[in-house]
Amino acid sequence: MARKTIAVVGATGAQGGGLVRAILADSSGEFAARALTRDVNGAKAKELATLGAGVVTVNVDDAESLRHAFQGAYGAFCVTFFWDHFSPEKELAEARAMAQAAKDTGVKHVIWSTLEDTRKWVPLSDARMPTLQGKYKVPHFDAKGEANGIFTELGVPTTFLNTSFYWDNLIHFGMGPKKGPDGRLAFVLPMGDKKLPGIAAEDIGRCAYGVFKRPDLVGRTVGIAGEHLTGAQMAAELGKALGQEVAHKAVTPEVYRGFGFPGADDLGNMFQFKADFEKDFCGARDLAFSRSLNPRLQTFAQWLGANKERIPLG
Ligand SMILES: NC(=O)c1ccc[n+]([C@@H]2O[C@H](COP(=O)([O-])OP(=O)(O)OC[C@H]3O[C@@H](n4cnc5c(N)ncnc54)[C@H](OP(=O)(O)O)[C@@H]3O)[C@@H](O)[C@H]2O)c1
Repeated sequence: MARKTIAVVGATGAQGGGLVRAILADSSGEFAARALTRDVNGAKAKELATLGAGVVTVNVDDAESLRHAFQGAYGAFCVTFFWDHFSPEKELAEARAMAQAAKDTGVKHVIWSTLEDTRKWVPLSDARMPTLQGKYKVPHFDAKGEANGIFTELGVPTTFLNTSFYWDNLIHFGMGPKKGPDGRLAFVLPMGDKKLPGIAAEDIGRCAYGVFKRPDLVGRTVGIAGEHLTGAQMAAELGKALGQEVAHKAVTPEVYRGFGFPGADDLGNMFQFKADFEKDFCGARDLAFSRSLNPRLQTFAQWLGANKERIPLG
């Protein structure tokens, strides 16, 4: 039986990498992986080739390279890279280029890795949080949500995959527990007693693999998470895994926005949105559904068991 090829944007990264590894790990599965990268000679691309992926050059800013990369594929996983450039307009242009390439090449099932357009809950006139970059509340969410409409308008057969906060942010995004002046570890989360849906980044790709096995999900919006946890619950799990007390420091979103690192205002608004609309945001990320897509879905404790040594404790 000829395998159906899934072209994976961001294959050397977190989401796409998880998907490529999930496809390759299922040796009796119906799909083959085409890993897309800007650098076919890079170490991560070579590693994926060794595991059995086809590796093809792409740049999501280059429409022709996208058409070439999607040609002949059954499926395409589409993701953008906000934190490389901080530009919602660039994300929108890249989403449009991917949607157009999928349409031009007749891809049968696209997954668009997206997030909510928070302006549907918090219009620009709502002063609870500042408007950023002129017309966004949470720029790295809003452009992705706005881009959903592009896939729909172009008639691309798409599953809209609402992702969750990666627990890997504790390793790579400076969000791990930090030592306070008293020498004790504190985990900062500006969400009070509200729950944050989180997920192991690797599990996003595994869930996406589950979506490709479900053509009935074309045209649907689905959300995934590994667990919904409060900051206090996350701090308690961190404490158990690290073998030392970790306090939960529930600063306000205003304080978080003022931390001053690049994107602090965007993330402060994001956490405030997730807290203020906890019911909608958690409700859109059903745990049992996520597990049905990916039976290996990890809990925070399981993820910590495998990754605690990688969390820098500043
Ligand atoms: N951190 C979170 O908690 C979180 C949660 C939900 C959603 N997100 C979203 O996830 C997105 C990023 O996904 P990720 O974490 O999987 O990314 P990532 O790990 O940073 O990997 C991105 C990969 O994409 C490739 N890439 C970058 N620019 C490219 C371009 N112009 N053309 C083609 N490929 C390019 C790079 O590979 P090469 O160098 O090999 O080309 C890189 O390895 C962001 O938009 C973010 O908002 C993040």
